[in-house]
Amino acid sequence: NLFANATQASIYVAQQIAALITQQQKQGKLAVLGLATGNTPKRVYQELVRLHQNEGLSFANVVSFNLDEYYPIYPEDEQSYTYFMQEHLFKHVNIKPQHIHIPHTRCETEDILDYCKEFEDKIASFGGLDLQLLGIGRNGHIGFNEPGSSFDSATRLVNLHAVTREDAQADFGGLDQVPQQAVSMGVNTIRQAKRILLLALGERKSEIVSKALQGEITPEVPASFLQSLAQVEYVLDHEAAGEI
Ligand code: GLP
Repeated sequence: NLFANATQASIYVAQQIAALITQQQKQGKLAVLGLATGNTPKRVYQELVRLHQNEGLSFANVVSFNLDEYYPIYPEDEQSYTYFMQEHLFKHVNIKPQHIHIPHTRCETEDILDYCKEFEDKIASFGGLDLQLLGIGRNGHIGFNEPGSSFDSATRLVNLHAVTREDAQADFGGLDQVPQQAVSMGVNTIRQAKRILLLALGERKSEIVSKALQGEITPEVPASFLQSLAQVEYVLDHEAAGEI
């Protein structure tokens, strides 16, 4: 799905999410959303907030699972994805706090490997994800499934790729401040979602978008795994689609 600009692409994605929430609501069901962070989905969340504030879209039946989180990090840290989600979406809408799931990666607490398994089980306990929103990293990562990730990977602790850490250095105020690791849903977790929307915006994504959509399916470009799935929709602006 190709749009003239980032705003139109983002509004389309927000409308798809809103339609799912409303449809589930009418049937008395929960809407289980897989959410993403980064610059790409910010405008999507802005539109969802607008729909909540101006058009009465309720998040009372929304259950959310975020794709990933740096490890270790405190949820209060401004660089954490917990902070990001609060600022960009959750604090502006009526989602129930107990319905929000973002990997907790504080180092001094739980055994992180057990925690990853619990996170995976928790998604399954809600019947899986109804819709997963994805961005794409410049190295082809989805979530923090870096090059080399397997098709069958589950939620786990991963080592961050050099390109990923470079792209995050502005947020952390220097490369040495960027965590070396993260907890991420796996490719297998993501591919079980009933519907997947991959949103890519801007010229800096055009090269990887072309590799992911048209290149060889390979663990070196984890987003290329999506080519084998029928429930994936790519939502691109003109700039991101420039090399297709
Ligand atoms: C981050 C996130 C991904 C995101 C990607 C692209 O590191 N873990 O989920 O899709 O990198 O980020 P951006 O949208 O800022 O380009």
